Amino acid sequence: MVRCAVRLLGLVPVLAVLCRAELAPPTVNISLDEDPEVRWKPLLSVFDIDFLKEAGAQVIDSTIPKWVHHAIAPVVSALERYVPQPYAGEIRGMASHFGGSLSDVIILNFAYEISAFCTSIIAQDKSGNIYHGRNLDYPHPILKNLTVNVVFLKNGEVMYRGTSFAGYVGLWTGQSPNKFTVSGDQRGTEHLLNWWKNFVSAFLLGWSPVSWLVRETLEAAEDFQNAVMLLSKIPIITGVYYIVGGVRAKEGVVITRDRMGPADIWPLDPLYGRWFRVETNFDHWLPPPARDHRREVANKALNATGQDHINRDTLYQVLSLSPVCNGITIYTTTMSAAHPEEYRSLIRLQNCREID
Ligand SMILES: *[C@@H]1O[C@H](CO)[C@@H](O)[C@H](O)[C@H]1NC(C)=O
Ligand SMILES: *[C@@H]1O[C@H](CO)[C@@H](O)[C@H](O)[C@H]1NC(C)=O
Ligand SMILES: *[C@@H]1O[C@H](CO)[C@@H](O)[C@H](O)[C@H]1NC(C)=O
Repeated sequence: MVRCAVRLLGLVPVLAVLCRAELAPPTVNISLDEDPEVRWKPLLSVFDIDFLKEAGAQVIDSTIPKWVHHAIAPVVSALERYVPQPYAGEIRGMASHFGGSLSDVIILNFAYEISAFCTSIIAQDKSGNIYHGRNLDYPHPILKNLTVNVVFLKNGEVMYRGTSFAGYVGLWTGQSPNKFTVSGDQRGTEHLLNWWKNFVSAFLLGWSPVSWLVRETLEAAEDFQNAVMLLSKIPIITGVYYIVGGVRAKEGVVITRDRMGPADIWPLDPLYGRWFRVETNFDHWLPPPARDHRREVANKALNATGQDHINRDTLYQVLSLSPVCNGITIYTTTMSAAHPEEYRSLIRLQNCREID
């Protein structure tokens, strides 16, 4: 799909034509009734195995210094038995189907945990409908070629769905139909080596990677409130923001997580005019770094859109504005738990970039 928009820029009316190309990622069905070691096989019907291997190596090389990679490989192999089910089986299955070394598939799954920059927005229209949108930003263009919609089935029915990367067992974006939607945004910028130390110690204590807790919540939570509770309380390996949308008016919240519990809960408050919340990668009560204008631009654009006009398409437009959408934006998702069939993720083929 190619969409072109015309915008007026600056004080002098300079007419700019923005042509944006977007592409829906492939969709695979993953059956939770199948053994974890074989359930990800359907990926091979949409991805080339050699491409998966090469792309995985590329992500690892560009995320983790070579010496760290060599140093941790044996540690990772030794830790494999501490990886809980079903992830252990799923990761082992990926390694055997896709031909990577087991430690590399584990490292790959944790490499994604550390550099997901994002913007998430939760909004409520005048009739009480909830809309949830997110951009996933990540400095590896190859992830555009690995993006995949995953539909998790149980007894042949859709249990939940999400958008992910081939080879990755966690979810940063997901929807439990007619219950809730959830997205995760990285909190702060922990140094890689600290992260790794946290990972090793936390793993031995059984804390979850943040993207696994998203999946577990999609699997287990009965409704919005229950999802907010699980996402707030279960220990995780590092801080994160969880943005959650429900099916009824006022069901929208940004949870700021510390490893052991919530640091802050920031709900929609539509009665007082707070009909949307924008979360990027910084605590909402603090100013973002001076060079990062994503929050400000999104807030202004939502204000300008107005509660009367917010819907899936206008939310997508806000998520398309520079720098909310930027050179490293991989995909954009818009979703509403009350209308699960409208779940939509689009890959940003042409980079969104600064135009003025
Ligand atoms: C990745 O996707 C882009 C855009 O669709 C395409 O031009 C490129 O050839 C793809 N690369 C690989 C290795 O598939
Ligand atoms: C995926 O599962 C859904 C629900 O059971 C089904 O309707 C659809 O045809 C399946 N798609 C594929 C590609 O198997
Ligand atoms: C949005 O509009 C409200 C009310 O008009 C105003 O108080 C607020 O400062 C605006 N926020 C931004 C980011 O423009």
